[in-house]
Amino acid sequence: MGGLRTFLVLTFMAAATSSAAPDAGFDQGVDVRPAIATAREAAGMTGRRLASSPERADDAVWISVSNADVAALKGEFDFSRRVPVSQNSLVSIFEVTVAELDALSDIMHHRLRKCGGFFAHPTLRAAKADMAEPPLAMARAYEIDQRETVVPMLKLVDEAAITETIKRLAAFKNRYYRSETGAASARWLRDYWQELSKGRPDITVELFRHGGWAQESVILTVRGKAEPGKVVVLGGHLDSIAGWGGGDNVAPGADDDASGIAVLTESARVIVASGYKPGSTVKFIAYAAEEAGLRGSREIADNFKQNGVAVQGVLQFDMTNYRGSADDIYLIADNVSEAQNAFLGKLIAAYTDYRVGTTKCGYACSDHASWTRNGYSASLPFEAKFDEDNPNIHTANDTLAQSGGNSLHAFKFAKVAVAYLVEMGK
Ligand code: BES
Ligand code: ZN
Repeated sequence: MGGLRTFLVLTFMAAATSSAAPDAGFDQGVDVRPAIATAREAAGMTGRRLASSPERADDAVWISVSNADVAALKGEFDFSRRVPVSQNSLVSIFEVTVAELDALSDIMHHRLRKCGGFFAHPTLRAAKADMAEPPLAMARAYEIDQRETVVPMLKLVDEAAITETIKRLAAFKNRYYRSETGAASARWLRDYWQELSKGRPDITVELFRHGGWAQESVILTVRGKAEPGKVVVLGGHLDSIAGWGGGDNVAPGADDDASGIAVLTESARVIVASGYKPGSTVKFIAYAAEEAGLRGSREIADNFKQNGVAVQGVLQFDMTNYRGSADDIYLIADNVSEAQNAFLGKLIAAYTDYRVGTTKCGYACSDHASWTRNGYSASLPFEAKFDEDNPNIHTANDTLAQSGGNSLHAFKFAKVAVAYLVEMGK
């Protein structure tokens, strides 16, 4: 492992370059590139490889895993043989290779069969920083007083439009983060989002390039008309995975997580259809590389933090279209903001008659954890109780047919997204 780690001397410069608009920093109005270069250097990310040269399968990465998961997995992933490079009472850090991330992701799901997860870190220093308690998110007042705006917008949410997006995304052979089709799916989504926001000069769509792998993240920004420096983030992950075969496997990822990207797409479409102009900036982010240890969201959330972006709240949509439990929406209760969850409960009660439950997810689980660890308030409204969720994810059978060929469940999450962005972005 790691035999080819001949480290090139470099500076990471390309993080915020976008093939769509090479000269624009991805956050409008602020050129974040010098800050990223400095921050990457400070984070110890120099001395590895040129950002323009993709990482190799045998490059080293560091993973942090909860000790409970390591104990539960014992013989799997050779955990009994591997020596952690660092450990505290909750978390262990191991050096692994990029190629091994897929195996770990698969084992987490199919052997442990519990939602746990791991963070992948580009350096040992970054991994160690993750062992500390995350900073507490800033307290804020939550109010629900935008009924006149929200109610008509909710009427525009269209189940058929959600279905269409899921179908289009699931048609890629896979959206694996290191595959050609994974990269193509990001460019396709960029075009799709650009098309739906035509005629709105306050909306821009960009790719966020990750130096290490082919798939980019996609960011749609609705610039705030009153306080553009305040940012509300709605996210989901674009990548899909099935087993260890990487780019060779068929991974439609219709529920995990085309259903989340479709919720984002539908809320953006409703913004345009209603002519709504938020006071704060609203960003929709389709993250690359979630399935490989939250790698895309980690780079983005770290970047926002390093640039001092005033993120007001983060809502993650990861699996929204499989109704596996009695209630409609389950708020994940771990690694999230309790205060924001309480607000979401009130928001859903104010605007819908959906029944809300709570459930737990595990150590890393999804991209909201990348924001939580940076001290931002994040939540994850989920499709079912964690052990009653879609059993087909991470297989070739994660298709829309498993949800009856419709998006009636995801439809509810799109309504939550619209209500959230209006009440948070006012
Ligand atoms: N969508 C899943 C998260 C999930 C799965 C939540 C099942 C609840 C029930 C996500 O894409 C995923 O697979 N996460 C991994 C962790 C990740 C860091 C590899 C997991 O849960 O094992
Ligand atoms: Zn997922």
